Amino acid sequence: MKFFIDTANLSQIKEANELGILDGVTTNPTLMAKEGIKGKEAILKHYKDICDIVQNPVSAEVFSTNLNDIIEEGKALAAIDKHIVVKVPMIKDGIKAIKWFTENGIKTNCTLVFSAGQAILAAKAGATYVSPFLGRIDDGNWDGVELISQIAHIYHIQNFKTNILAASIRNSLHIVRCAEAGADVCTCPLPSILGLLKHPLTDIGLTQFFS
Ligand code: E4P
Repeated sequence: MKFFIDTANLSQIKEANELGILDGVTTNPTLMAKEGIKGKEAILKHYKDICDIVQNPVSAEVFSTNLNDIIEEGKALAAIDKHIVVKVPMIKDGIKAIKWFTENGIKTNCTLVFSAGQAILAAKAGATYVSPFLGRIDDGNWDGVELISQIAHIYHIQNFKTNILAASIRNSLHIVRCAEAGADVCTCPLPSILGLLKHPLTDIGLTQFFS
């Protein structure tokens, strides 16, 4: 399973990258706004800065919701750097746009996915990644990891090539359960990645060995 970091914060991206286990980055409009990045030029520059750090796939989300605008916005994003993956919402025009991007050699991440049916549509359109939001599903008292397992099963028996990118990760256990469920990628906040390091017996063993 690949590890992406789910943030637009450059110092967190650098910290995760320096761990040597980072395979990419995902962002969304909320995460960009959190970093105070506003306006088209500033947003495009920020994506370039992220690509320069990681040299791995970087998901950049479109703001538009109609086909022509999604395509124009996606083309501008893809022109920033070869590592950009255009992130497109799971709506009717989004599916049409993913199909267009696929046919024109632009990688895509179909976002805001909450059901197996939506994941099938994303795969049929040729999305490079599909992003089920498991934390938000958990928030509604459903088991988000179950959805990851269901999509993994369907993609396997149907031989779909779309990568399952587990998103909306809330804790380190989510990462472990996504690995068990067959996610291809898990995109995580930095604390959830660093949480994987922790075990009290490791701390006790360190004290025994080195004090
Ligand atoms: C990443 O691609 C998603 O936009 C992100 O994981 C959503 O996370 P949230 O549910 O914590 O906002």
